[in-house]
Amino acid sequence: MCLEGWIIYNGHLTGNKFRDFAEWIQNAGDRKGIKTKIIKNNHLFSILSDNSSRLLNTSEQSLPDFVVFGDKDIPLARQLEDMQIPVFNSAQAISTCDNKIETYRELSNNKLAIPKTIVAPKIFPGLTQIEQEPFQHVASELGFPLIIKEAYGSFGEQVYLITSFKEMLTKVMELKEVPYVFQQFVSTSFGKDVRINVVGDNVVAAMLRTSKEDFRANVSAGGQMEPYQPSQKEKEIAIAATRAVGADFAGVDLLFGENKEPIVCEVNSNAHIRNIYDCTGVNVADFIMNHIVNEVE
Ligand SMILES: Nc1ncnc2c1ncn2[C@@H]1O[C@H](COP(=O)(O)OP(=O)(O)O)[C@@H](O)[C@H]1O
Ligand SMILES: [Mg+2]
Repeated sequence: MCLEGWIIYNGHLTGNKFRDFAEWIQNAGDRKGIKTKIIKNNHLFSILSDNSSRLLNTSEQSLPDFVVFGDKDIPLARQLEDMQIPVFNSAQAISTCDNKIETYRELSNNKLAIPKTIVAPKIFPGLTQIEQEPFQHVASELGFPLIIKEAYGSFGEQVYLITSFKEMLTKVMELKEVPYVFQQFVSTSFGKDVRINVVGDNVVAAMLRTSKEDFRANVSAGGQMEPYQPSQKEKEIAIAATRAVGADFAGVDLLFGENKEPIVCEVNSNAHIRNIYDCTGVNVADFIMNHIVNEVE
């Protein structure tokens, strides 16, 4: 069978990281003789009506055999799935990973080790005052320092280290209706984590990230990368975490607990793959493409 795929990325994001992922997948497809088209999400409008036409699609003549979804436009991913097109990662997996509250929920339901996480209560827009007393219970449960982490965020930019109750309340007032969690700070992992790339049921690459100046190990926050040989336990938890969120492939971040016990920090359904290539020489795109072909054919 001669497969044809679409690779979707977000047409409005600036910077080349997103287009970059699409091109890497396309090149991996070329190496396997699979034709792909790179399409911006904003060139495909979902039409919801009683009509059979479901995409307001200005240029595409025929539908693909599969879609690699390098975006977080979840309604568009759902629409493609409703049209019976296999989407990788699935809309459900992207949606679960996009929202860290949902991610931790699935990890916790699957009994995987995570930092103790407390979900902030929903607050409607227009907040002017907060009831302070209930937050005391969160502070006593987690102690200081603790982490506040927005549900939606990446590159470490929406993750905060909070050292006192006063600072905690200031952040709570600042975030207002933004969804977020309070989380145990895993101090044994200060400025250090492991990124593991899982594809299907396999770990295909791993790197250790360390930062001298920040508690966050993200490369974009100044973390240094080095290739890493994960233990059997680290591999197993990364694969289990990928499965728990329903992803076909993912970049799983692990923290180091006491005695180096692996703790899942997050699961990225839309992990960039250039850094891991630069660090380890492993092109995750080839594994992703092989996986998709096996699933679709
Ligand atoms: N509970 C925690 N304890 C210690 N370090 C943490 C914790 N949560 C996050 N970090 C650090 O912050 C970084 C960013 O957090 P993460 O949840 O992966 O968000 P992002 O999606 O922004 O990468 C992690 O790579 C890790 O180094
Ligand atoms: Mg991360």
